Amino acid sequence: MDKNKNRLKYLNLFKIRMPITAVVSIGHRISGLLMVIAIPFVIYAFQLSVSSAAGYESVMAALDYPLAQGVLVLLVWSFLHHFFSGIRILLIDIDVGVSRPVARISAWLVYSLALLITILLLGIMR
Ligand code: HEM
Repeated sequence: MDKNKNRLKYLNLFKIRMPITAVVSIGHRISGLLMVIAIPFVIYAFQLSVSSAAGYESVMAALDYPLAQGVLVLLVWSFLHHFFSGIRILLIDIDVGVSRPVARISAWLVYSLALLITILLLGIMR
């Protein structure tokens, strides 16, 4: 009998149902990458905004565009998700919350807190 008959031939991440721990882990990587990509743009916008009153006005005007606001929301979520997920990883590194049930709960906590605080901040900013 061919032992390899049922072996995994390909892995389509969009077709498998990932556990919440995997979702949060991938989210940590994506959020870290997004923040790194944003660094030059954030530095430029900050530098422009403090250079003069006109510079400040132009940055504020640019932030009025829906696309810029969408990017800003994504960055706020990225920071919150990365922050909570980073603390979770560091705790797991020192053997806190390693068991599967606790790791699942902490992953749900990270996922929900990041989303909830992003939505709350959106509400406050409006
Ligand atoms: C604010 C507090 C932060 C905490 C607590 C934190 C925590 C962590 C931890 C623990 C890791 C290692 C994850 C692992 O072992 O797989 C990590 C990875 C990383 N962090 Fe942060 N981080 C923070 C802020 C940031 C910021 C501000 C940026 C970007 C500007 C950033 C970018 C990254 C990137 C790119 C990685 C590598 C992700 C990967 O490819 O796996 N982090 N962070």
